[in-house]
Amino acid sequence: KYEKIWLFFGIGSLFVFLAVLGVGAFAQGTQPPSCLTTIDPEKVDQTPPFDKPGLVKTGDNEYQLNIVASAFAYTPNQVEIPKGAKVTINVATKDVIHGFQIAGTNVNMMVEPGYVSSYTQTFDKVGEYVILCNEYCGAGHHLMTAKVKVV
Ligand code: CUA
Repeated sequence: KYEKIWLFFGIGSLFVFLAVLGVGAFAQGTQPPSCLTTIDPEKVDQTPPFDKPGLVKTGDNEYQLNIVASAFAYTPNQVEIPKGAKVTINVATKDVIHGFQIAGTNVNMMVEPGYVSSYTQTFDKVGEYVILCNEYCGAGHHLMTAKVKVV
């Protein structure tokens, strides 16, 4: 008789545990891991540094690359980066969720409305790298690309 109560209690706590785990994973999944700060998505292109997107020199061999994502393009669309530069990339979106992946590098971010996604990458190899959107964002998703040239 008592065994049944304990069994019920055991299974019950297992479900509670799974529920907590599930909610936790979901809640964290909706936050970009690389979130720096929040931004008003409608005013992205009026808010510094996104009012002047592009590459900015911030120090000796250090740069900041600010990019605005919108359906279905990145601004700027092409960037030249000197070889060996350490670049902090900040990306914000004006509309929906986009991806920001630089093929052949470790850069792979999710760009969510209201947040600035940030990642620092050193570009050691000369070449052309394609920037891709890897979050489905609408009819033009597959056309959403840009280019990084390391020179
Ligand atoms: Cu932007 Cu897919």
